[in-house]
Amino acid sequence: MQLLKISEYARNCEQQSPRFTPEIYIFETTTEVDTFAATRLIEQVQAKPASILTLPTGNTPVGMYKQVVNAYNQRLTDLHAVTIFNLDEYYPISQEHPNSYAAIMKRHLINHLLVAAWHIPNGEAKDPELEAERYKQLLEQHQPIDLAILGIGPGTTCHIGFNEKGSSIGSNVRYVPLHPETKEANAKLFDNPRDIPDGTITQGIADILQAKQILVIAKGTSKAWGINRALKGPVSSDAPASFLRLHPNVTFVLDKNAGQYIQ
Ligand code: PGA
Repeated sequence: MQLLKISEYARNCEQQSPRFTPEIYIFETTTEVDTFAATRLIEQVQAKPASILTLPTGNTPVGMYKQVVNAYNQRLTDLHAVTIFNLDEYYPISQEHPNSYAAIMKRHLINHLLVAAWHIPNGEAKDPELEAERYKQLLEQHQPIDLAILGIGPGTTCHIGFNEKGSSIGSNVRYVPLHPETKEANAKLFDNPRDIPDGTITQGIADILQAKQILVIAKGTSKAWGINRALKGPVSSDAPASFLRLHPNVTFVLDKNAGQYIQ
């Protein structure tokens, strides 16, 4: 059940002109968030079979991918012409490590269906700067991205991709050290928390804002602060997700816990 559609919300927030008004959907359950996001992805591919997508990893999109794979298995969608760019990857990390974003993407999506191409930064590359440059050039060859789907960082990180606090609006694909708060949160997802790498290679804020459409998905109370901060207060690099308010076509889809401060 959809609780609220608050396109009015951002209009009422403290804003500096010119800013755009994100669409915001808040759902009672996380499954409804997954369904909304999966439907948006499938509709995008229906409208343009050779879509270029930026896709996230982490826990948040797992349910969305499950629904996309279900739809694929029922022949309700066909992604054979789609090109996928992952948003980010840890660095350094073995692609075989179960917590690498490469392994997570394979587990939840790539192993289950056919796509035209799938690109992700190589966590095993010798030089992260060179690898970032390679990925940046590849991305540039395919831009503009048709649809970018993102999560948001937990706690007060307010990151998108691994664009941590201090990331500039003009940033492109690059190596970014993990912020200590992100490191602490994500280390809990590793069997051995000490295995968490120090860094990442991530699409930059400018790469994300370059997409034609952006869909932000967030679930749970750990995202509530970041969602509120992204939508309120100054658009500034101390809250990288706030830069999304500079894009004309952004949708936030939240469960009621992630959306608790903005209802
Ligand atoms: P999560 O990560 O989906 O695992 O919460 C999101 C993020 O850190 O951007």
